[in-house]
Amino acid sequence: MDDVKKTVKLTIDGVNVTVPEGTNLIEAARQVGIEIPYYCYHPHLSVSGNCRMCQVEVEGMPRLTIGCNTAVKEAMVVKTQHTSDAVAEAQRATLEFILANHPLDCTVCDQAGHCKLQDYYYEYSREPSRHQVEKKHKVKALPLGPDVIFDGERCILCTRCVRFCDEVTKTSELGIFNRGDSSLVGTYPGVELDNALSGSVVDLCPVGALTHRQWRFNTRVWFSKWVNTICTGCSTGCNAKVAVRDGRVVCVKARPNEDVNLEWMCNEGRYGFERFQPAKRLLSPMLKGKENCVGFRELVWSQANALASRLASGDGQDASRSAVFLSPFLTLEEVCIALEFAKVVMGVSPKGPNIAMQLRQRDLTEEEKILISPDRAPNASSALLFGIGGLSSKVNWRDALEKSYQNLLNSVRTGQISKVLLVGDAAISDQDVDNSLTSAMCRAAVSVAITSRGIEDSEGAHFYCDLVLPTRTVNEKSGVMLNKDLRFQRLNSLLLAPATTKPEWQILGEIAAAAGRIILPDEVVDDRLLFRFIISEIDALSALSLSRIGESGLSLESLRTNRCSSSNESLASDR
Ligand code: SF4
Ligand code: SF4
Ligand code: FES
Repeated sequence: MDDVKKTVKLTIDGVNVTVPEGTNLIEAARQVGIEIPYYCYHPHLSVSGNCRMCQVEVEGMPRLTIGCNTAVKEAMVVKTQHTSDAVAEAQRATLEFILANHPLDCTVCDQAGHCKLQDYYYEYSREPSRHQVEKKHKVKALPLGPDVIFDGERCILCTRCVRFCDEVTKTSELGIFNRGDSSLVGTYPGVELDNALSGSVVDLCPVGALTHRQWRFNTRVWFSKWVNTICTGCSTGCNAKVAVRDGRVVCVKARPNEDVNLEWMCNEGRYGFERFQPAKRLLSPMLKGKENCVGFRELVWSQANALASRLASGDGQDASRSAVFLSPFLTLEEVCIALEFAKVVMGVSPKGPNIAMQLRQRDLTEEEKILISPDRAPNASSALLFGIGGLSSKVNWRDALEKSYQNLLNSVRTGQISKVLLVGDAAISDQDVDNSLTSAMCRAAVSVAITSRGIEDSEGAHFYCDLVLPTRTVNEKSGVMLNKDLRFQRLNSLLLAPATTKPEWQILGEIAAAAGRIILPDEVVDDRLLFRFIISEIDALSALSLSRIGESGLSLESLRTNRCSSSNESLASDR
């Protein structure tokens, strides 16, 4: 059986188009750069065909048809608003109807500047309203649930939000109630819009009818800097577009990516970017008084590096009494440097039992499983890539990683470890901080934590280390992350790190230098140069480039396929 999809040839506005059978006219036109405007259509929802904005003329059809619900046919001749006066007039009329009851209050609407109604009015209408009667008044600022607020007057009844809850989360909290111009989106009696992905309906709403409860009216879209990045809430790595203003995250939208998150995000990820910024920030290196493991005093970096260089091993026995905990929030590049540090400075084998990456699995509901991964470890897959802690198989890799992490924690608790290094925030989960761990850490000969969390915060394992070195949060770094499907994706920095902190890779490089071992050349002074250095050093990553990763990522499989050397070679073997 030939499973290659048949293609169909047609013309749209006189342009030849060849697309797979079954493609609708909106998507076919998009292939050749022709825009057919639409509101209710969404590529990942069923077709409802209610807005009528996507009308086109098809030769041989008695009247205009809607592009979202018309599949391409061989030799079809299609005209859009660009070549058909009838289509342009139909679109103007559609906009006039939609605007009949829509408030003209763009000046105070959150959607202004990124609103499809505003955009299409300028593009396809620009006609003044002929309606003399008073507009219909409907509910304003109605909470649909804990995260989303609804404005009935701005709603154009496209039903995208309703279909999302019916078809994606299958929670069906929303419906359209009443008839005619009294029609209204609402929740069923006794139900709230409260599912794990509910914030996604705001992204789907083409107008300003749905707003995020926590961000509404906090900024105009044009006053914010929008950064394309990924969510680091779990190893799914949803693609996101984050608005930043005055050093704060002021809105988050999902970025479409067919291979990762379609166009959805979960609420924990979307609303949680700022949870990675500690309430109390560590701003300078701090040394603990050895007396009873209490009291910190400030150091300058050179003193701190000299003290941290005591992590360096003298012999193999020393290495077997060392423990290196890596944060799953480190970028791929930082993981490489940390592994090099462990090997060259501490004598710890990257694949041995004395190094681990923190991972704690969590249970998910069926609804959460639609998108969320059972971890809070965005770059845990890099442990698989490099075989950290002996990880070698994709099968049950999370179980194996969690086990190696717990085993290393137990080695610390039972006093088998005399040198401890924590690289990055959450290198040890707060859930694992117990009396036996903290007293063993206080007894260790050397214990160093690289973290953004202040020493006032006694919940974290860093509080029980001798030396605490200030670094960036995951929101403040750029680099590459590997998601659960082994897809390289770009993490872009959102916020500026305090000037007195340093990236993890730089801190490790300086400690290594203080110990007389060079792991980083002097030319590496920023995240970009670090990336270049890493791909020049690791053969398995040599085909990687930031442009190949691009905005939508690159799978490990594609990277392997494109490598010149043996494609069956294990990536982990390059370390
Ligand atoms: S609230 Fe928005 S997404 Fe929902 S029907 Fe109205 S316009 Fe469409
Ligand atoms: S599923 Fe994971 S990556 Fe996606 S938004 Fe939620 S926490 Fe973030
Ligand atoms: S997009 Fe086709 S009818 Fe709405």
